[in-house]
Amino acid sequence: MGVHQVADVVISDVSKRFGTVTALAPSDLTIADGEFVAIVGPSGCGKSTLLRLIAGLEEPSTGRISIDGRDVTHAAPADRGLAMVFQSYALYPHLTVAENIAFPLRVARTPRAEVTKRVADVAETLGLTAFLSRRPKALSGGQRQRVSIARAIVREPKVLLLDEPLSNLDVDLRVRMRHEFARLHAQLAATMIYVTHDQVEAMTLANRIVVMNAGRIEQVGAPLALYDTPATLAVARAIGSPRMNLLAGTIATDGPGGAGVRLTTGETVPVRVQGEAGEPVTLGIRPEHLVPDDDGPLAGKVELFERLGPLSFAHLGSPGLGTTIVAQLPGDRHITLGQTLRFRGLSQRLHVFGEDGHARVTG
Ligand SMILES: Nc1ncnc2c1ncn2[C@@H]1O[C@H](COP(=O)(O)OP(=O)(O)O)[C@@H](O)[C@H]1O
Ligand SMILES: [Mg+2]
Repeated sequence: MGVHQVADVVISDVSKRFGTVTALAPSDLTIADGEFVAIVGPSGCGKSTLLRLIAGLEEPSTGRISIDGRDVTHAAPADRGLAMVFQSYALYPHLTVAENIAFPLRVARTPRAEVTKRVADVAETLGLTAFLSRRPKALSGGQRQRVSIARAIVREPKVLLLDEPLSNLDVDLRVRMRHEFARLHAQLAATMIYVTHDQVEAMTLANRIVVMNAGRIEQVGAPLALYDTPATLAVARAIGSPRMNLLAGTIATDGPGGAGVRLTTGETVPVRVQGEAGEPVTLGIRPEHLVPDDDGPLAGKVELFERLGPLSFAHLGSPGLGTTIVAQLPGDRHITLGQTLRFRGLSQRLHVFGEDGHARVTG
């Protein structure tokens, strides 16, 4: 460790066009050896394209890709030392679990004794030992996905690519599989690149998150760094659940209500931000940074109240703001529907985005 630091997957100026559609604008990304990187972003933003380019399933329109120091831009998928797991399990229905897992080894003409041992080891790792002689149709969705993961890791890939592997599973299973991925990553020491539209998965599993939007990489960083300081509106929308409240306003310098962001209700949220008076901006406040305050500038009528136990979320309608706001409250807070609540924003935790979508420095 430390001595032999290989930047395992390096993407330099890689782009992909399909006809007139730019699925991926020229992008750079360096993923270190052994990292667990999650790629998130709305549907159609280019996540799968980026993964398929790394896998060699798509040819880049521009740029270079290297894995473990070797240029693989034009290498065949099988020569890249990686394996991929898809959302659909794509198992061979007529083969048993053992035969499905063994398949990539057979293709690689691995000696029989070695195949038997590796299949047994991987089945053990994924809790599939009891199912080795079954066929896929006799398995649950979660077990099938475990088989497809077993098949992907049986050749001990240096890089494991996963494209929304849990999307077809129900919630309980997703949570359990999430824990298995964390364990698997610790156990395999492989670089893992994990595409998901579930930001909770990304937040809990990844060392770093890549946020994509409209074919571009918006920001790359540790989960909490992205949570605390989203560089753009797209990142603010992609990270955090419930989402950050985003309110239209304009920059107010001195005058009635003081300096800050003047909302469409006419009230001003005090925040120090650079810009011209009257300039349109978006104010971002996470639900947990709305503090109940009877003199606060933000108000709304409770339309929906979600009690989760330790905490709750109030959804507040505010016609003047043009949007619903969500506030996090203590779990034991007494609330009646239709009640008006007032808040201020926790200073130091406010975000302001310019018209170009980029975050402004606030204070
Ligand atoms: N083979 C293809 N031919 C044409 N357009 C494609 C192809 N694959 C992806 N695209 C387009 O590229 C964009 C990004 O797609 P994709 O990478 O699948 O997004 P995501 O995985 O984030 O949902 C979309 O507009 C999609 O329609
Ligand atoms: Mg996709």
